[in-house]
Amino acid sequence: MTHQSLLLGQTLHFSGNPLTDSWDETVHIDSAGGVLIEGGHIAATGPAAKLRAAHPHAQVTDYGDALICPGFVDAHVHYPQTAMIASWGKRLIDWLNLYTFPEEMRLSDPAYAAKIAGRYLDLTLDHGTTTVCSYATIAPHSVDAIFEAASTRGQRIVTGKTCMDRNAPDGLLDTAQTGYDDSKALIDRWHGKGRASYAITPRFTPTSSADQLAALGALWAERTDCLMQTHLSEQVDEIAWVRDLVPHARDYLDTYEEHGLIGPRAVFGHAIHMTPREIDRLSETGAAVVHCPTSNTFIGSGLFDMAGLAARHIPIGLATDTGGGSSFSMLRTMAAAYEIGQLRGTPLHAAQLMWLATAGSARSLHLQDKVGTLSAGLEADITVLDLASTPAIAQRATTANDIWDNVFATIMMGDDRAITDVWVNGQKRA
Ligand code: GUN
Ligand code: ZN
Repeated sequence: MTHQSLLLGQTLHFSGNPLTDSWDETVHIDSAGGVLIEGGHIAATGPAAKLRAAHPHAQVTDYGDALICPGFVDAHVHYPQTAMIASWGKRLIDWLNLYTFPEEMRLSDPAYAAKIAGRYLDLTLDHGTTTVCSYATIAPHSVDAIFEAASTRGQRIVTGKTCMDRNAPDGLLDTAQTGYDDSKALIDRWHGKGRASYAITPRFTPTSSADQLAALGALWAERTDCLMQTHLSEQVDEIAWVRDLVPHARDYLDTYEEHGLIGPRAVFGHAIHMTPREIDRLSETGAAVVHCPTSNTFIGSGLFDMAGLAARHIPIGLATDTGGGSSFSMLRTMAAAYEIGQLRGTPLHAAQLMWLATAGSARSLHLQDKVGTLSAGLEADITVLDLASTPAIAQRATTANDIWDNVFATIMMGDDRAITDVWVNGQKRA
């Protein structure tokens, strides 16, 4: 008989999008729920008592009052920036030149790239994140390193070679042709193999010439099942630089659009300071944007308009943006999204934050049929949250009015200590 694991506890379920419909009609917590795992997949969810009775031979793990959630999905990260996270005092362009590019250069050593890839995935798993969509460096071996590290751990992953052919140090430059050739070879090697998928990755317009953007647009037209990820309208100075570099463009998004780099599988990080035309185009094309709240405050970028973009039905993911972001934790990231919502006068509910960190991010990466919800047939990536993980949270939990009040305290005050267990592809992480 096939081995089955039955996880019991409070289980988190989604039946719709709580950003566009009311959260209490689309997000539910079953206080005595269960998740049945068979092989790498979720075989069933439902009331604990019913699943116990129907599957008497399943190996039971009873998590009591802990919250059984989909594993967190971090929709925009730079794993090569793991070792320089929390670097002080610079805005985007200076931060890239002073801290980021030198560290990305160190990954020219394949042994160092492999070490950082493994370290990064272990850190994120410690924080309950089971899937990331990461930039690598310009070195193809840095892409192999993170795909291999994810495969060893059984993880679903999206990544791609960061392409840059201008405005970066010599050791970090490719060309339009090598960017195209290397990306294509990596797609052939990894895309769709096991749990791996590829994102064509021009870093951003300041570091990719028109020739390189055109070459990557042509590659995407050949490999339409890949994602295309890049950065959009993160900082005011960056936008002014793009205007100088591409004076004929209508706006920042147009510098991608003119090379075919827009469409439903496009994923734009940050997207803070946008014109009405850019928002219209995102909305019309079905492209996704990713909110990186700890990064947007840490590098001083600005306040993302969650409510405005959600109202336009633009798919939105949530991300740490390691190492522009200041934390590996999606709990901390949800807290920062809440705080930015407050500054904009639109606070997010805990149910919306949990959705963004799981199903919302999965949808922005077109992975909603694979991960991001506790539904039969999906891959069994699960994070179990202790809702009283520190003395400070535990004492707050005693006054909680309801389960959401309790979950919200863990979102605002929790970290890796709140992660009781992580299941990846149906296996409990040791
Ligand atoms: N824009 C271009 N590259 C980067 C990066 O590495 N981090 C952030 N936050 N923004 C970028
Ligand atoms: Zn980024």
